[in-house]
Amino acid sequence: MEIDSSRISLRPFNLSDVDDFMLWAGDDQVTQFLRWNSFTSREEALTFIKDVSIPHPWHRSICIDDRSIGFIYIFPGSGDERCRAEIGYGLATKYWGQGITSRAVKMALSIVFKDFPDLVRLQAHALVENKASQRVLEKAGFQQEGLLRKYSFVKGKVRDLLIYSLLSTDSYQQTSTT
Ligand SMILES: CC(C)(COP(=O)(O)OP(=O)(O)OC[C@H]1O[C@@H](n2cnc3c(N)ncnc32)[C@H](O)[C@@H]1OP(=O)(O)O)[C@@H](O)C(=O)NCCC(=O)NCCS
Repeated sequence: MEIDSSRISLRPFNLSDVDDFMLWAGDDQVTQFLRWNSFTSREEALTFIKDVSIPHPWHRSICIDDRSIGFIYIFPGSGDERCRAEIGYGLATKYWGQGITSRAVKMALSIVFKDFPDLVRLQAHALVENKASQRVLEKAGFQQEGLLRKYSFVKGKVRDLLIYSLLSTDSYQQTSTT
């Protein structure tokens, strides 16, 4: 059953999110396709929120009723690469398949091209086997540009990655954040 969009929000992380954060960041099912390993302690999670999430240029908690159930980030390039940014996300398994990440990506799209005026291109890399992530990107209007063969180590193995992009000038769906 779809969750009412009015219950979904994106907001910066707070230290008080740590227990909710551990529920998904400590889950190997969520981190299996990500570069980082599951968090194993509350202390490690607190340090990450304080030192990485809070100072990050655009790292948001995906929330339901203001409780953290996942993350979405935009990492903008600098210098000559300030025209592009990488997007990434993950969601607690309990909420998979309800369209929440797709809505979160569309909400992010309605914000980030305004937050980063030089940004023209958003890109994402997805493991070939990560069909759910590929579908999220396609539903948000990203185009698959190609297969990057043996592109990067992920979880100890050199993996093939698909690259997707969306340009600020593409027609894409946005979801209001208000
Ligand atoms: C990727 C992820 C964020 C998707 O979250 P979600 O909220 O379940 O995504 P949505 O419900 O918005 O959309 C998922 C889509 O993928 C589809 N899907 C899911 N598993 C699939 C599979 N094995 N094969 C094909 N399609 C699949 C769903 O049917 C849905 O498409 P639909 O709406 O057309 O039916 C979630 O699976 C996750 O957290 N994965 C682990 C972290 C991760 O992989 N992050 C991305 C790194 S690139």
